[in-house]
Amino acid sequence: MKAFTDSWVDKFATVYADSPLAELSWFTASPGIELIKLVIDGVIRRGDRVVDLGSGPGVDAVFLAAQGMDVTGVDLSEQAVERARAWADLAGVSARFIQGDALDVPLPSHQADVVTDSFVFHNMRDEARPVYAAEVHRLLRPGGLFVLNSFSDHMVEGTGPRRVTSAEILATFDSNRFECVELRLYRNLPTATKPNQVHWIGQFRAR
Ligand SMILES: C[S@@+](CC[C@H](N)C(=O)[O-])C[C@H]1O[C@@H](n2cnc3c(N)ncnc32)[C@H](O)[C@@H]1O
Repeated sequence: MKAFTDSWVDKFATVYADSPLAELSWFTASPGIELIKLVIDGVIRRGDRVVDLGSGPGVDAVFLAAQGMDVTGVDLSEQAVERARAWADLAGVSARFIQGDALDVPLPSHQADVVTDSFVFHNMRDEARPVYAAEVHRLLRPGGLFVLNSFSDHMVEGTGPRRVTSAEILATFDSNRFECVELRLYRNLPTATKPNQVHWIGQFRAR
């Protein structure tokens, strides 16, 4: 099954090879601001085993590795994996990056303390959502944390990924498999085309 909607699935294959990172709409050169807070608050800790799904250029993953976490990034795009490895090399951190599908991740079960998703879920087609939730749950140890960073229905309509409602998120990462610790809106960095970025940050504990 293809994970992403048709409007995006083909672009990611080559975009990392063809474009400077600064031209990618999701690239800010900064780790997610809510991810930084989770590290400051000790929710994600040194030594935690983190899997970053759809890790792209590796900005979040390299940040977490620099903070002492044991990080593996997974991305479908080989070019994204190459970019992320180059960034990790430059930073001198030992984050690993592997090519793989978020719906069938080539990593063992129940080994991750934390799984992160930064702007991946909101690209997914409806039928991929339950498969993805099952895969996130498989990767996490019991009590492990899933951190979701997603476009929301509280931002203006326009180009780009789907706007996701809280009901859709809660239906996907459902209470049979996850305990929702937090799901709230936050204002993210503005971009040239989207000055009003209102996103979801979610924390879900695997049962
Ligand atoms: C909007 S980008 C976000 C990248 C990164 N998480 C960030 O915040 O900068 C979405 C990423 O998902 C990757 N992707 C697309 N389909 C995927 C799949 N089936 N499995 C894993 N990654 C996928 C793309 O190559 C792209 O790097």
